[in-house]
Amino acid sequence: MSIFADSIMKEKTVLITGGATGLGKEMAIRFGKLGARIGIVSRNKENLEKTVTQLSAMGIKIAYDVCDVRDPSQIAASVSNLEKVLGPFNVLVNNAAGNFISRTEQLSPKAFDTVIGIVLQGSSYFSLEMGKRWINSGMNGTILNIVATYAWTGSAYVVPSAVSKAGVLALTQSLAVEWGPRGIRSVAIAPGPIPTEGAWNNLIPDTSFEEIMKNRNPMMRLGKPDDLADLATFLISDAASYINGAVVTIDGGEWLKGAGQFNMLSGMPESLWDLMKTRRNK
Ligand code: HXC
Ligand code: NAP
Repeated sequence: MSIFADSIMKEKTVLITGGATGLGKEMAIRFGKLGARIGIVSRNKENLEKTVTQLSAMGIKIAYDVCDVRDPSQIAASVSNLEKVLGPFNVLVNNAAGNFISRTEQLSPKAFDTVIGIVLQGSSYFSLEMGKRWINSGMNGTILNIVATYAWTGSAYVVPSAVSKAGVLALTQSLAVEWGPRGIRSVAIAPGPIPTEGAWNNLIPDTSFEEIMKNRNPMMRLGKPDDLADLATFLISDAASYINGAVVTIDGGEWLKGAGQFNMLSGMPESLWDLMKTRRNK
């Protein structure tokens, strides 16, 4: 059951990068069902067409353009093409990403360039293009960036992604202050693991890792695309108009569990808890 009123997004025109698959598609469905007009961009035309056909059949007003977010001229052309069909955007969701696990010493400079290009430069270029349009036309806007909890902890084996997401976090907080007075909010979501084909193909060596991830999560489960769509809906809605520069974590408490000094005691046997009671200072 949705807690959001049916037409909450009817004044929103939302551009979602990487919107044909995974979490981007889930957000497109959710925002679209709530009345938003949706533009999606990515590289794979077949996926874009499939998603537009599927969502149009649900009654969602949606259009696509092929765009590699690493190329500023493609970004400018895509925004113009989509605005001709949908009207001016007032929300940008920087969701496109590239990622893979690898030992860092085995990466080439091009491997770094590729991920930094998609995630950090792509989000920066898109924000720049949209921000200029909004400032020049006097429109208000919202930028929602999708980062990851390792944006502030870093993470082994996904170093190009971690440095990029950390950069996008800084982008969010910097633009929140600089563009807030121009009527542009910047916010971010830091999800923990949520099964999607793209993330799982690139990052999860086999299904045994799912169990490990569930067991180390205080909520004992992985995230669901719906969890993220709920939060994203709220953050881009007018109900969040005073939220600017915030990064909201949605991971069931996973990263905090890894961080707290004594959190590993949740696996301690009862006998040791009893023993510790006897060691109280008199
Ligand atoms: C080491 C790798 C590699 C790997 C690619 N490269 N995969 N190096 N290990 N597994 C290197 C290549 O050898 C090459 O360098 C360079 O990276 C570019 O590779 P290409 O295949 O030419 O790049 P491209 O076709 O542009 O594809 C980009 C991609 C691909 C990132 C590599 O995986 C992709 O398109 N991904 C999009 C979807 C995605 O990643 N989704 C996951 C999002 S989940 P050389 O020098 O050899 O030429 C996420 C957060 C998850 O981001 C957090 C979970 C909690
Ligand atoms: P996904 O389905 O693989 O989404 C990534 C999207 O980015 C794809 O649609 C891809 O489309 C697009 N993309 C990649 N390179 C691009 C480029 N150069 N230009 C334009 N588009 C490009 O994975 P997902 O799980 O939904 O991830 C969505 C977002 O959530 C990402 O920012 C990811 O980092 C973040 N996230 C996911 C998880 C998780 O567990 N799923 C956790 C934390 C954060 P094309 O290949 O067609 O271009």
